[in-house]
Amino acid sequence: MVSSFVAALATLAVAFLFKMVDFQALVASARVTLFASGNQDGVAFDPARDIPSLAGKVILVTGGAGDLGKQVAIEFARHKPARIYIADLPRDDNGASVIDLIRDAVGDENAPISYLAVDLSSFESIKSAVATFCAAEDRLDIAILNAGIMRVQSGTTAEGYEIAFGINYLGHALLAKLLMPTLLRTAELPGADVRVVAVSSEGHNMAPKGGIIFDKLKGPCEDIKYYQRYGQSKVAIIGLARELAGRHPQIKVVAVHPGRIITGMARGLQKESLLFKATAPISPLFCVSPAIGVRNHLWAATAAEVESGKYYEPVGVPDKETAIAKDPGLSRRLWEWTEKELESVE
Ligand SMILES: NC(=O)c1ccc[n+]([C@@H]2O[C@H](COP(=O)([O-])OP(=O)(O)OC[C@H]3O[C@@H](n4cnc5c(N)ncnc54)[C@H](OP(=O)(O)O)[C@@H]3O)[C@@H](O)[C@H]2O)c1
Repeated sequence: MVSSFVAALATLAVAFLFKMVDFQALVASARVTLFASGNQDGVAFDPARDIPSLAGKVILVTGGAGDLGKQVAIEFARHKPARIYIADLPRDDNGASVIDLIRDAVGDENAPISYLAVDLSSFESIKSAVATFCAAEDRLDIAILNAGIMRVQSGTTAEGYEIAFGINYLGHALLAKLLMPTLLRTAELPGADVRVVAVSSEGHNMAPKGGIIFDKLKGPCEDIKYYQRYGQSKVAIIGLARELAGRHPQIKVVAVHPGRIITGMARGLQKESLLFKATAPISPLFCVSPAIGVRNHLWAATAAEVESGKYYEPVGVPDKETAIAKDPGLSRRLWEWTEKELESVE
């Protein structure tokens, strides 16, 4: 009698645990953490020493108010570009506190940094941000497509696309499309070295089977796990880099994974996901600081040996993407889908 009571309690406890913890998420995260590439392999890249002079260059960083974006801006600002645009969600102070923080870190209260409000989940907002940028600048040397979300709750963008795909991929695809004339014009200037760095993730290997589920990109995709939705958006980013690189040989376009860094994204997940909350105390064991976590961004934006169209893990390690992310058939199909979705947006 007692033993069956204990067994029933144990069964209930296990059932409760299964309900509380997403075991598929646990396995997926463990696989990425244990078997994906480390943070500090590859090229020994020291931003202070290896970033060349950026004199005269104009740089735009999406998600520039986030942890990695801010650090990218700090490292670039030390090399004196003409201007850095922090492109991020609209803020009450129009980015003044972020700009102050970057200037303080660089020790230059006049560092030429501007805030460009953009919500990548809205085509109208992206169009308006590009119009603002183009009214102020006639060149763009480096575009870092870095903004991103990974969240548990499902949702859609203003135009009804799945929220992670819409922000991480489609918003950036539209931004790149609208900025391309400026990028290509810049590539014709003497001494130009135009780069687009699209920030993917090793988490692209959590994408659903087939990489991208085309017939579900509109709508909240509640039946697809949040980490699969994120993975799908990051497979798409790798495809975007390949397709843009093939179409525009005058510039270099690459996708990068930054490494594992505790940033706003992880802190957001710790609030939403029991798994992330539970593993928070040990996460510093396998994460690095933003200063190290941006080296792949910076290397891809400036190093001479970067090959256009590739995906790099940190730092400068090519070809580690999954077979599906490597598939040129998938990226071509994505390009055709994207062109159709964006054809009326100018
Ligand atoms: N951290 C890692 O371990 C890691 C690993 C692999 C890849 N990555 C990638 O690295 C990139 C940077 O992320 P992070 O780690 O620095 O996270 P983060 O601190 O959360 O930065 C992301 C930035 O994107 C902004 N953003 C979110 N939604 C946006 C929208 N609709 N329009 C414009 N901007 C938006 C966020 O603004 P708010 O803060 O106002 O929401 C934030 O400033 C992401 O693409 C991420 O997928 C990170």
